[in-house]
Amino acid sequence: MAKKIVITIDGWSSCGKSTLAKQLSQKLGYLYVDSGAMYRAITLYFLRNNIDWAEKKEVKDALKSINLEFVFNPNSNNSEMHLNGENVEYVIRDLLIAEKVSDVAAIKEVREFAVAQQQKMGTKKGIVMDGRDIGTVVFPKAELKIFMTADNAIRVQRRFKELYEKNPNITVEEVKDNLEMRDYIDSNREVSPLRKAKDALELDNTNLTEKEQFNKALNWAKEKIGE
Ligand code: DC
Repeated sequence: MAKKIVITIDGWSSCGKSTLAKQLSQKLGYLYVDSGAMYRAITLYFLRNNIDWAEKKEVKDALKSINLEFVFNPNSNNSEMHLNGENVEYVIRDLLIAEKVSDVAAIKEVREFAVAQQQKMGTKKGIVMDGRDIGTVVFPKAELKIFMTADNAIRVQRRFKELYEKNPNITVEEVKDNLEMRDYIDSNREVSPLRKAKDALELDNTNLTEKEQFNKALNWAKEKIGE
């Protein structure tokens, strides 16, 4: 049987991390975990329950009431985020969540809560996880670490297209401001800021098609697996 590895994909918002991670996991028969969905679901819980996340005790107590689970949906061919038994995969993609998630993800207790679960999912290897700190903090010993980048304008266009399909009132400006704000907070926070791991391979997909990007990453994976 082929050796199983851990693949981490980190990078800026809307670089296409999840697209690549899903394709790699399907090709390799690996588990795919979208770690951002966990921070988004925690944010949704905090908003719904009026949790004041400046208050440590409130955050700690709230986390005790949060159960996160990825449930495979054969219709969408995707593992979807369930928060306390409710499928929240669609609602966590809303701009309202995107506006707050970086603040919530910067909280130490929130990160400890999410990272512990993420590390558990990877104990058997055979996993592709995308996020911001996966190669640096969650799986520092991962066999393949990819750090994705793309030009800002392209990232804004991609995210705009995605959000516009759900909400035609959204503007390019709003999307641009949100991306810039999240990138700033994600890379400047004290706990586990977004960084390229020293041993990560950089994948700039500004001028790559999806297919070209996939082939490049798949070749890297095959080298690490030893095929
Ligand atoms: O990948 P995404 O856009 O769904 O992530 C949502 C937010 O969660 C992002 O702005 C930063 C945060 N995040 C994080 O801090 N660490 C991760 N491993 C994944 C996401």
